[in-house]
Amino acid sequence: MEYVTLNNGVKMPILGYGVYQIPDHTECERCVLDAISVGYRSIDTAQAYRNEEAVGRAIQKSGVPREEFFITTKVWISNAGYEKAKASIEESMRKLQLDYLDLVLIHQPFNDYYGTYRAMVELYKAGNIKAIGVSNFYPDRYIDLVQFSEVVPSVNQVETHVFNQQVKANEIMKKYNTQIESWGPFAEGRNELFTNATLQEIGNKYNKSTAQIALRYLIQRGVVVIPKTVNKNRMEENFNVFDFELSTEDMDQIATLDTGESSFFSHQDPQRVEFLTNYGKKGLE
Ligand SMILES: NC(=O)c1ccc[n+]([C@@H]2O[C@H](COP(=O)([O-])OP(=O)(O)OC[C@H]3O[C@@H](n4cnc5c(N)ncnc54)[C@H](OP(=O)(O)O)[C@@H]3O)[C@@H](O)[C@H]2O)c1
Repeated sequence: MEYVTLNNGVKMPILGYGVYQIPDHTECERCVLDAISVGYRSIDTAQAYRNEEAVGRAIQKSGVPREEFFITTKVWISNAGYEKAKASIEESMRKLQLDYLDLVLIHQPFNDYYGTYRAMVELYKAGNIKAIGVSNFYPDRYIDLVQFSEVVPSVNQVETHVFNQQVKANEIMKKYNTQIESWGPFAEGRNELFTNATLQEIGNKYNKSTAQIALRYLIQRGVVVIPKTVNKNRMEENFNVFDFELSTEDMDQIATLDTGESSFFSHQDPQRVEFLTNYGKKGLE
Protein backbone atom coordinates (compact mmCIF):
# COMPACT_ATOMS: atom_id res chain seq x y z
CA MET A 1 0.00 0.00 0.00
CA GLU A 2 1.10 3.55 -0.65
CA TYR A 3 0.31 6.35 1.80
CA VAL A 4 -0.09 10.09 1.77
CA THR A 5 1.06 12.15 4.74
CA LEU A 6 -1.59 14.57 5.95
CA ASN A 7 -0.83 18.12 7.12
CA ASN A 8 -0.56 16.93 10.75
CA GLY A 9 1.83 14.05 9.96
CA VAL A 10 -0.84 11.30 10.02
CA LYS A 11 -0.39 8.68 7.30
CA MET A 12 -3.45 7.76 5.23
CA PRO A 13 -3.63 4.89 2.69
CA ILE A 14 -3.96 6.31 -0.82
CA LEU A 15 -6.49 3.55 -1.59
CA GLY A 16 -9.43 2.65 0.59
CA TYR A 17 -12.86 1.07 0.39
CA GLY A 18 -16.12 3.08 0.35
CA VAL A 19 -19.42 1.73 1.66
CA TYR A 20 -21.96 4.21 0.31
CA GLN A 21 -25.18 2.58 -0.93
CA ILE A 22 -24.66 -0.67 0.97
CA PRO A 23 -27.35 -0.06 3.58
CA ASP A 24 -28.18 -3.70 4.25
CA HIS A 25 -26.35 -4.60 7.43
CA THR A 26 -25.58 -8.24 6.64
CA GLU A 27 -24.43 -7.36 3.15
CA CYS A 28 -22.30 -4.44 4.35
CA GLU A 29 -20.62 -6.55 7.00
CA ARG A 30 -19.85 -9.23 4.39
CA CYS A 31 -18.47 -6.58 1.99
CA VAL A 32 -16.17 -5.02 4.58
CA LEU A 33 -14.92 -8.43 5.70
CA ASP A 34 -14.20 -9.30 2.05
CA ALA A 35 -12.44 -5.97 1.54
CA ILE A 36 -10.28 -6.52 4.64
CA SER A 37 -9.37 -10.02 3.43
CA VAL A 38 -8.31 -8.53 0.08
CA GLY A 39 -6.03 -6.09 1.94
CA TYR A 40 -8.00 -2.85 2.31
CA ARG A 41 -7.37 -1.15 5.64
CA SER A 42 -8.97 2.23 4.99
CA ILE A 43 -12.78 2.17 5.18
CA ASP A 44 -14.94 5.19 4.33
CA THR A 45 -18.37 5.31 5.96
CA ALA A 46 -20.71 8.09 7.11
CA GLN A 47 -23.53 8.63 9.56
CA ALA A 48 -25.85 9.09 6.58
CA TYR A 49 -24.94 5.68 5.09
CA ARG A 50 -26.59 4.02 8.10
CA ASN A 51 -24.04 1.24 8.11
CA GLU A 52 -21.52 2.26 10.77
CA GLU A 53 -22.63 -0.65 12.98
CA ALA A 54 -22.02 -3.17 10.19
CA VAL A 55 -18.59 -1.66 9.51
CA GLY A 56 -17.80 -1.89 13.23
CA ARG A 57 -18.83 -5.54 13.39
CA ALA A 58 -16.67 -6.41 10.38
CA ILE A 59 -13.65 -4.66 11.91
CA GLN A 60 -14.14 -6.62 15.13
CA LYS A 61 -14.68 -9.94 13.37
CA SER A 62 -11.66 -9.50 11.09
CA GLY A 63 -9.24 -9.90 13.99
CA VAL A 64 -6.96 -7.34 12.34
CA PRO A 65 -5.32 -5.04 14.94
CA ARG A 66 -7.06 -1.67 15.30
CA GLU A 67 -3.88 0.28 14.57
CA GLU A 68 -3.71 -1.22 11.05
CA PHE A 69 -7.02 0.43 10.12
CA PHE A 70 -7.78 3.93 8.92
CA ILE A 71 -11.47 4.53 9.61
CA THR A 72 -13.33 7.55 8.28
CA THR A 73 -16.83 8.70 9.09
CA LYS A 74 -18.75 11.89 8.30
CA VAL A 75 -21.07 14.12 10.29
CA TRP A 76 -24.44 14.53 8.60
CA ILE A 77 -26.26 17.87 8.09
CA SER A 78 -28.88 17.06 10.74
CA ASN A 79 -26.14 16.59 13.33
CA ALA A 80 -24.54 19.97 12.65
CA GLY A 81 -23.69 22.38 15.47
CA TYR A 82 -21.27 22.00 18.38
CA GLU A 83 -23.40 19.97 20.82
CA LYS A 84 -25.16 17.74 18.31
CA ALA A 85 -22.03 17.08 16.28
CA LYS A 86 -20.06 16.13 19.39
CA ALA A 87 -22.80 13.74 20.54
CA SER A 88 -23.14 12.30 17.03
CA ILE A 89 -19.40 11.60 16.74
CA GLU A 90 -19.48 9.84 20.10
CA GLU A 91 -22.46 7.82 18.78
CA SER A 92 -20.50 6.98 15.60
CA MET A 93 -17.62 5.72 17.73
CA ARG A 94 -20.03 3.56 19.73
CA LYS A 95 -21.57 2.14 16.53
CA LEU A 96 -18.15 1.50 15.04
CA GLN A 97 -16.95 0.00 18.36
CA LEU A 98 -13.86 2.22 18.26
CA ASP A 99 -12.30 4.39 20.93
CA TYR A 100 -10.76 6.69 18.36
CA LEU A 101 -11.47 7.59 14.73
CA ASP A 102 -8.76 8.16 12.15
CA LEU A 103 -10.64 10.79 10.18
CA VAL A 104 -13.92 12.64 10.63
CA LEU A 105 -15.29 14.83 7.85
CA ILE A 106 -18.11 17.36 7.71
CA HIS A 107 -20.24 15.59 5.09
CA GLN A 108 -21.82 18.65 3.48
CA PRO A 109 -21.16 22.41 3.71
CA PHE A 110 -24.64 23.16 5.10
CA ASN A 111 -26.23 24.04 8.46
CA ASP A 112 -23.98 25.05 11.35
CA TYR A 113 -20.77 23.50 10.08
CA TYR A 114 -18.67 25.97 12.07
CA GLY A 115 -20.15 24.52 15.26
CA THR A 116 -19.52 21.02 13.92
CA TYR A 117 -15.93 21.91 13.15
CA ARG A 118 -15.37 23.31 16.66
CA ALA A 119 -16.56 20.00 18.13
CA MET A 120 -14.23 18.14 15.76
CA VAL A 121 -11.27 20.34 16.72
CA GLU A 122 -11.98 19.65 20.39
CA LEU A 123 -12.13 15.87 19.86
CA TYR A 124 -9.03 16.08 17.69
CA LYS A 125 -7.09 17.88 20.41
CA ALA A 126 -8.30 15.31 22.94
CA GLY A 127 -6.92 12.53 20.73
CA ASN A 128 -10.31 10.94 19.95
CA ILE A 129 -9.92 11.81 16.27
CA LYS A 130 -6.53 11.61 14.54
CA ALA A 131 -7.37 13.95 11.66
CA ILE A 132 -10.30 16.18 10.73
CA GLY A 133 -11.55 17.45 7.41
CA VAL A 134 -14.44 18.30 5.16
CA SER A 135 -16.33 16.93 2.18
CA ASN A 136 -18.02 18.68 -0.73
CA PHE A 137 -16.43 21.99 0.24
CA TYR A 138 -15.79 23.84 -3.01
CA PRO A 139 -13.31 26.73 -3.11
CA ASP A 140 -15.71 29.37 -1.73
CA ARG A 141 -16.71 27.45 1.41
CA TYR A 142 -13.34 25.75 1.75
CA ILE A 143 -11.35 29.01 1.78
CA ASP A 144 -13.84 30.56 4.19
CA LEU A 145 -13.47 27.69 6.68
CA VAL A 146 -9.67 27.68 6.37
CA GLN A 147 -9.46 31.42 6.97
CA PHE A 148 -11.54 31.39 10.15
CA SER A 149 -10.56 28.08 11.78
CA GLU A 150 -7.82 27.14 14.15
CA VAL A 151 -7.03 23.85 12.37
CA VAL A 152 -6.66 23.57 8.59
CA PRO A 153 -8.73 20.58 7.35
CA SER A 154 -6.43 17.63 6.63
CA VAL A 155 -8.68 16.27 3.87
CA ASN A 156 -11.37 17.53 1.50
CA GLN A 157 -13.37 14.68 -0.06
CA VAL A 158 -14.92 15.86 -3.32
CA GLU A 159 -16.29 14.24 -6.47
CA THR A 160 -13.15 13.45 -8.49
CA HIS A 161 -12.72 11.16 -11.48
CA VAL A 162 -11.41 11.29 -15.03
CA PHE A 163 -14.41 13.33 -16.22
CA ASN A 164 -14.24 15.82 -13.32
CA GLN A 165 -10.61 16.11 -12.28
CA GLN A 166 -10.91 19.08 -9.88
CA VAL A 167 -7.71 20.71 -11.15
CA LYS A 168 -8.51 24.21 -9.91
CA ALA A 169 -10.04 23.07 -6.60
CA ASN A 170 -7.01 20.87 -5.93
CA GLU A 171 -4.62 23.77 -6.60
CA ILE A 172 -6.41 25.74 -3.90
CA MET A 173 -6.35 22.80 -1.47
CA LYS A 174 -2.62 22.41 -2.09
CA LYS A 175 -2.09 26.09 -1.39
CA TYR A 176 -3.52 25.63 2.12
CA ASN A 177 -2.10 22.12 2.58
CA THR A 178 -5.26 19.99 2.46
CA GLN A 179 -5.21 16.53 0.88
CA ILE A 180 -7.76 15.91 -1.89
CA GLU A 181 -9.74 12.67 -1.60
CA SER A 182 -11.95 11.44 -4.42
CA TRP A 183 -15.49 10.30 -3.94
CA GLY A 184 -16.95 8.49 -6.95
CA PRO A 185 -13.58 7.59 -8.52
CA PHE A 186 -15.54 5.75 -11.25
CA ALA A 187 -18.22 8.45 -11.42
CA GLU A 188 -20.41 5.51 -10.30
CA GLY A 189 -20.07 4.31 -13.91
CA ARG A 190 -21.62 7.47 -15.39
CA ASN A 191 -20.64 8.68 -18.88
CA GLU A 192 -19.95 4.99 -19.64
CA LEU A 193 -16.66 5.22 -17.79
CA PHE A 194 -16.12 1.45 -17.75
CA THR A 195 -16.26 1.26 -21.57
CA ASN A 196 -14.54 4.55 -22.30
CA ALA A 197 -12.42 4.08 -25.46
CA THR A 198 -9.41 6.08 -24.23
CA LEU A 199 -9.25 4.21 -20.93
CA GLN A 200 -9.73 0.88 -22.71
CA GLU A 201 -6.99 1.59 -25.24
CA ILE A 202 -4.54 2.61 -22.52
CA GLY A 203 -5.62 -0.38 -20.40
CA ASN A 204 -4.77 -2.76 -23.24
CA LYS A 205 -1.18 -1.50 -23.25
CA TYR A 206 -0.69 -2.34 -19.57
CA ASN A 207 -3.00 -5.36 -19.50
CA LYS A 208 -5.22 -3.52 -17.03
CA SER A 209 -8.97 -2.82 -16.92
CA THR A 210 -10.57 0.60 -17.44
CA ALA A 211 -11.37 0.63 -13.70
CA GLN A 212 -7.69 0.09 -12.86
CA ILE A 213 -6.59 2.83 -15.28
CA ALA A 214 -9.17 5.24 -13.81
CA LEU A 215 -7.86 4.58 -10.27
CA ARG A 216 -4.19 4.58 -11.23
CA TYR A 217 -4.57 7.95 -12.93
CA LEU A 218 -5.92 9.52 -9.74
CA ILE A 219 -3.31 7.82 -7.54
CA GLN A 220 -0.49 9.09 -9.77
CA ARG A 221 -1.93 12.58 -9.39
CA GLY A 222 -1.75 12.16 -5.60
CA VAL A 223 -5.51 11.82 -5.13
CA VAL A 224 -6.73 9.46 -2.38
CA VAL A 225 -9.34 7.03 -3.77
CA ILE A 226 -12.05 4.96 -2.05
CA PRO A 227 -13.77 2.88 -4.77
CA LYS A 228 -16.93 0.99 -3.84
CA THR A 229 -17.95 -2.44 -5.05
CA VAL A 230 -19.95 -5.26 -3.50
CA ASN A 231 -18.07 -7.87 -5.59
CA LYS A 232 -14.96 -9.45 -4.13
CA ASN A 233 -13.34 -9.99 -7.54
CA ARG A 234 -13.75 -6.27 -8.28
CA MET A 235 -12.35 -5.43 -4.82
CA GLU A 236 -9.23 -7.37 -5.89
CA GLU A 237 -9.17 -5.70 -9.31
CA ASN A 238 -9.44 -2.24 -7.73
CA PHE A 239 -6.70 -3.10 -5.23
CA ASN A 240 -4.26 -4.23 -7.94
CA VAL A 241 -3.12 -0.82 -9.10
CA PHE A 242 0.35 -0.59 -7.61
CA ASP A 243 2.28 -2.85 -10.00
CA PHE A 244 2.35 -0.52 -13.00
CA GLU A 245 2.87 3.13 -13.82
CA LEU A 246 1.13 5.20 -16.49
CA SER A 247 3.53 7.04 -18.81
CA THR A 248 3.49 10.83 -19.04
CA GLU A 249 1.89 10.53 -22.51
CA ASP A 250 -0.91 8.35 -21.16
CA MET A 251 -1.42 10.68 -18.17
CA ASP A 252 -1.66 13.61 -20.59
CA GLN A 253 -4.18 11.77 -22.73
CA ILE A 254 -6.40 10.95 -19.75
CA ALA A 255 -6.15 14.59 -18.64
CA THR A 256 -8.07 15.51 -21.82
CA LEU A 257 -11.14 13.55 -20.61
CA ASP A 258 -11.76 16.26 -17.99
CA THR A 259 -15.01 18.14 -18.62
CA GLY A 260 -14.39 20.41 -15.63
CA GLU A 261 -17.96 19.72 -14.53
CA SER A 262 -19.75 17.44 -12.15
CA SER A 263 -21.19 14.21 -13.54
CA PHE A 264 -23.72 14.31 -10.69
CA PHE A 265 -24.82 17.76 -9.51
CA SER A 266 -23.39 21.06 -8.39
CA HIS A 267 -23.29 21.92 -4.69
CA GLN A 268 -23.94 25.49 -5.76
CA ASP A 269 -27.14 24.72 -7.67
CA PRO A 270 -30.02 26.25 -5.62
CA GLN A 271 -32.37 23.34 -6.34
CA ARG A 272 -29.80 20.82 -5.19
CA VAL A 273 -28.97 22.88 -2.10
CA GLU A 274 -32.70 22.98 -1.28
CA PHE A 275 -32.96 19.23 -1.76
CA LEU A 276 -29.94 18.46 0.45
CA THR A 277 -30.88 20.91 3.20
CA ASN A 278 -34.50 19.68 3.25
CA TYR A 279 -33.20 16.13 3.48
CA GLY A 280 -30.78 17.27 6.20
CA LYS A 281 -33.67 18.81 8.18
CA LYS A 282 -35.42 15.46 8.42
CA GLY A 283 -32.64 13.85 10.45
CA LEU A 284 -31.42 10.29 10.25
CA GLU A 285 -33.79 8.44 12.57
N1 LIG B 1 -18.68 12.56 0.55
C1 LIG B 1 -19.67 12.32 -0.28
O1 LIG B 1 -20.60 13.14 -0.45
C2 LIG B 1 -19.66 11.04 -1.05
C3 LIG B 1 -20.53 10.86 -2.14
C4 LIG B 1 -20.47 9.66 -2.83
C5 LIG B 1 -19.57 8.68 -2.45
N2 LIG B 1 -18.74 8.86 -1.37
C6 LIG B 1 -17.75 7.82 -0.95
O2 LIG B 1 -16.98 7.43 -2.08
C7 LIG B 1 -17.11 6.02 -2.27
C8 LIG B 1 -17.01 5.67 -3.74
O3 LIG B 1 -17.96 6.37 -4.51
P1 LIG B 1 -19.31 5.72 -5.06
O4 LIG B 1 -19.64 4.52 -4.27
O5 LIG B 1 -20.32 6.78 -5.12
O6 LIG B 1 -18.99 5.33 -6.56
P2 LIG B 1 -17.77 4.66 -7.39
O7 LIG B 1 -16.79 4.02 -6.47
O8 LIG B 1 -17.30 5.67 -8.37
O9 LIG B 1 -18.52 3.57 -8.24
C9 LIG B 1 -19.17 2.48 -7.67
C10 LIG B 1 -19.85 1.70 -8.82
O10 LIG B 1 -18.85 1.13 -9.67
C11 LIG B 1 -19.05 -0.27 -9.77
N3 LIG B 1 -17.71 -0.88 -9.80
C12 LIG B 1 -16.79 -0.85 -8.82
N4 LIG B 1 -15.63 -1.44 -9.22
C13 LIG B 1 -15.84 -1.85 -10.49
C14 LIG B 1 -15.02 -2.53 -11.43
N5 LIG B 1 -13.77 -2.87 -11.14
N6 LIG B 1 -15.55 -2.81 -12.66
C15 LIG B 1 -16.83 -2.43 -12.96
N7 LIG B 1 -17.66 -1.80 -12.09
C16 LIG B 1 -17.16 -1.52 -10.87
C17 LIG B 1 -19.85 -0.66 -8.54
O11 LIG B 1 -20.67 -1.76 -8.82
P3 LIG B 1 -20.77 -3.07 -7.86
O12 LIG B 1 -20.84 -2.60 -6.44
O13 LIG B 1 -22.03 -3.74 -8.32
O14 LIG B 1 -19.54 -3.87 -8.15
C18 LIG B 1 -20.72 0.60 -8.33
O15 LIG B 1 -21.86 0.57 -9.16
C19 LIG B 1 -18.46 5.72 -1.62
O16 LIG B 1 -18.67 4.34 -1.37
C20 LIG B 1 -18.41 6.57 -0.40
O17 LIG B 1 -17.62 5.96 0.60
C21 LIG B 1 -18.79 10.03 -0.68
